[in-house]
Amino acid sequence: MPGTKSSPKSFARSIAVVALFLAFVALSAGGQPQPAKPTAPSATATADRRDWWKNAVIYEIYPRSFQDSNGDGIGDLNGIDERLDYLKDLGVDAIWLSPVYPSPLVDFGYDISDYEAIDPKYGTLADFDRLVAQANKRHIRVIMDMVMNHTSDKHKWFIESRSSRSNPYRDWFVWRDGKGETATNKGAPPNNWQSYFGHSAWQWDEKTRQYYYHKFYIQQPDLNWDNPKVHDAFKDVVGFWLKRGVSGFRFDAITTLYEDPHLTDEGIVKDEDGNRKINAYGDPQLDDTKTNNLPGVHPVMQEMRATMDKFNSPAFPGTRVLIGETYLPNIGELVKQYGTPDKPEFQLPMDTQVGFINKLDVAAFRAKLNDVETKIGDNTPLLVFDNHDNPRIDARYGDGMHNVDIERVLATILFLSRGAALFYYGDEIGMKTTPPTRKEDVKDPIGVTGWPKEKGRDGERTPMQWDVRPNAGFTKGIPWLPIPPSAAKDNVEIEKSNANSLFAWYQRLIRMKKTNPTVAQGDNTMLDTANTKVLSWMRQTPGAPAVVVSVNFTADPQTVSLSVPGAGSKVTTLLKTPGSADPASLDKINLGPFGVYIGQVQ
Ligand code: NOJ
Repeated sequence: MPGTKSSPKSFARSIAVVALFLAFVALSAGGQPQPAKPTAPSATATADRRDWWKNAVIYEIYPRSFQDSNGDGIGDLNGIDERLDYLKDLGVDAIWLSPVYPSPLVDFGYDISDYEAIDPKYGTLADFDRLVAQANKRHIRVIMDMVMNHTSDKHKWFIESRSSRSNPYRDWFVWRDGKGETATNKGAPPNNWQSYFGHSAWQWDEKTRQYYYHKFYIQQPDLNWDNPKVHDAFKDVVGFWLKRGVSGFRFDAITTLYEDPHLTDEGIVKDEDGNRKINAYGDPQLDDTKTNNLPGVHPVMQEMRATMDKFNSPAFPGTRVLIGETYLPNIGELVKQYGTPDKPEFQLPMDTQVGFINKLDVAAFRAKLNDVETKIGDNTPLLVFDNHDNPRIDARYGDGMHNVDIERVLATILFLSRGAALFYYGDEIGMKTTPPTRKEDVKDPIGVTGWPKEKGRDGERTPMQWDVRPNAGFTKGIPWLPIPPSAAKDNVEIEKSNANSLFAWYQRLIRMKKTNPTVAQGDNTMLDTANTKVLSWMRQTPGAPAVVVSVNFTADPQTVSLSVPGAGSKVTTLLKTPGSADPASLDKINLGPFGVYIGQVQ
C-alpha cells in the first residue's frame, strides 16, 4: 500500500466532483459564501458522508479555556454548547475535546481517574450527551481524547495495583525491582529512562518496595500493554463513548505505549563537539529509542480500529475516526501508523512533519508536503500546525512584524493541501502565546520543574478571546489563566466585523475546502520547484478545473511564473491577499510581502 497512489477515477467520485463544483459555482455567483443547503441523502451522498474525515476540518478545543458557563473561571461543556453556532459559522466538521474525564488535573485532564464519566468541573454526562446532540444537529461531530498510555495515580486500577504485589491489578502497570536492591536498600532505578516531564521515569513505591514506570508525570503511571486485561478494559471504554455518539478519538501519546522489555538504557545524545546535550530540566538528553515508537503499538491499534469499526453498523451510521498523536521522525514511520487495508490502524495519524518545521523554509515545506502526497499511498494526510502542547504559531513562525500575514500563509497551506486539517482554538483570530512572566504564576507543573528554560504550556492555553467585555467574554468569574493583553484587539467580535481579518481568511479557506471540488479532493503537485522564496503547488482532480496556489515566505514582494501541464495559462482569482494583484495569466503572478494567491486555471 505505501508508495502507490492510484488516481481517483471512480464514477461515484466523479458525481461527487460535479456536485461540489455546482455548489462552488453557486457560491461564487452569489457573492458572499453561504453554507450549502442540506440535500436529501442519495447513495453517493451516503458513501461520501461515511468518508467525512477525508476532507474534514477539525477544531481542537481545550475545554478549560474555551467558554465558562457558570462563572468558576474554568471553561466547561455547557460553555462549548453556547459556542456551537460560532463553530458552525466558522465551518468546522468536528471538534476534538482534550480530556474532560474526572481527573486530579495534575496534567489538566491527561491524568484520568475514571474513563467513563465527566469531571464535575466540566459538567455531567447529561451535559455531554446534550453537547453531542446539539453539535450533531449542526453537522458537527465530537471527538474525544483517549489516554491509554497511562492513568492517574488516583485511578482505582492503580490504587489497587500499588496496594500489594499480589493484587490482581498489580500487573496492569509496569513495576520493576531497583538495581542492586536489598532488603534494606531500594537500589537505583532500573535503568536510565527519563520522564518527558523531567528526571527519572521510575518512581519508588515504599509500600510494595518496587519502582513503577511513568513516561510523563509521577502521577501518571504507565499501563502495562502486555497484559490482555488492559486491552479488554480499553475496548470497553471506547465502546462506552461510541455508544454515546462520539465520532471518534484522538489517541494520546500512542507511540509510547510499549517499552523495551529488556530495560536497556537509552543512548545519550551528544552535540557536534561530542558534549552531552542537557535538556531544560538539567538531565542528559536521551535518544528515546527504548521507550518510544516500538512495534508493539501496531497490533494494539489494529485491535482498537477493529473494535471501533464494529460500531459502524446500521444502528450507528457514519464512520468513526481514529486520530493519532504521532510525533514521528519521518514519513516512513508515519505511514506505518495507517496500517494496511486488511489490518487498518489510524485513519488520521497526525502529520507533525509539515506543521512543526517551525521556520519559513520553502524547500523544507515543499519536501515535506511532497512526502505526504507521494509516500502514504491512498491514505489521507492530517496536517496540523498547532496544539495545546506547543507555543502557538506566532511564537514558532512569526517575525514580530508580519505575524498575521504569516498566519494567513500557514492557514493557506493547511486548508489548501489535500486531506484533513486540524487547528487549535484561537488560531483563527491569531491568538498569541502568552507565557507566565513569574515562576509563582505557572500552572503547568513542567513550567515549575523547568523554569526558566521551560515555562510550561500555560502560554498556549490562555482563555479564548471572544469579545471586548471583561475577561474577553470567557468568564464572569476569575479566569484560571490571565487573559492576554492582545485580547483587546484579537477577538472574535472585532474580527468577525472585519472582512479582511484573519478570521475572515480562515472562513473563506474553509468554505473553499468544502465547496470547491478540486480543493476538496484534488491531488497536490508542487510547482516552480527551484524557487526558494515562494511555495507554489497545484491541485487537480478529474472533471474540474485545476487550482494553483502561491504563498510568499518573505517580507519582500515576489513574482512567480507557473505552468500547469495540459492546461492553458489563463487563470481567475479565487482568493488573494490585498497586496497581491489579479494576474492576467499564470506567467506573471505578483505577490505582496507574505502574500497569497489562489487561482482557478481555465
Ligand atoms: C500529550 C498531551 O497532548 C499532553 O498535553 C499530555 O501532557 C501528554 N500527552 C501526557 O498525556
